[in-house]
Amino acid sequence: MTAPTLAGDVLYVGTSWKMNKTLDQTREFFDELGYWDGGGDVQAFVLPALTSLPEAVDRVRDGIDVWVGAQNGHFEDAGAFTGEVSMAQLADAGATVVEIGHAERRAMFGEDDESIALKVRAALDAGLTPVVCVGEPRPVREQGGYVDFVKGQALQALSGVSADDAGKVLLAYEPVWAIGASGEAATAESVSDVISALAERWPATPVLYGGSVTPSNAPSFLELPDCRGIFVGRAAWQAQGLLELLDIARRIARARKENGLSI
Ligand code: PGA
Repeated sequence: MTAPTLAGDVLYVGTSWKMNKTLDQTREFFDELGYWDGGGDVQAFVLPALTSLPEAVDRVRDGIDVWVGAQNGHFEDAGAFTGEVSMAQLADAGATVVEIGHAERRAMFGEDDESIALKVRAALDAGLTPVVCVGEPRPVREQGGYVDFVKGQALQALSGVSADDAGKVLLAYEPVWAIGASGEAATAESVSDVISALAERWPATPVLYGGSVTPSNAPSFLELPDCRGIFVGRAAWQAQGLLELLDIARRIARARKENGLSI
């Protein structure tokens, strides 16, 4: 089984719940989300905690246009890896997407470029769409050279991805200093150089932006010509927040198409 090639003309809007939500809260989220159809303009994805994955898979089964996936997976298919879950097991549980190499996993759980590259390859082999996270820490941003730093991370993460498979991966640029409650929101101007550099180097791979995205700043990122979507934490943890971001993305995707611009 191999991962599907991604549509070239949609904007992606995804959220990871991180280590949040009980089963009841998961049900409440999907009740509030209701029916959603991106209409070929927007593709949504939700990455709950593993305990909520089966419930989320069940909820989108009836034609709701939302991909569901996991926030991590192991690169081996099976074996003595206590506490881990393989990409094959995630696919078996109904996941279609998997996040790999988030800054929190790199900082707190010792993820390195080598294991991230193995995970990306394993995800593709299991038929999952990898959402590969890259981004520079604050000192690198301040010292300069951050564009090359992030390109270097992406090069390592994608080292096992053939040219044919480049269109099966989502790349999320998330500067470490912009992520989470203690993060400082980036401006679109301050991140457009990295997004363009990634898009130029991997033209078949959609590049998303993440880090303190909200409904107020989302348009500025989504309107960057090389930005193909947003990856959101806090602002999309309530269904209403996600719906608001999806509507913004749909409006921008349609406007781009109406003006004859590619997405
Ligand atoms: P945030 O999280 O939107 O809450 O900053 C983003 C992320 O960690 O991907």
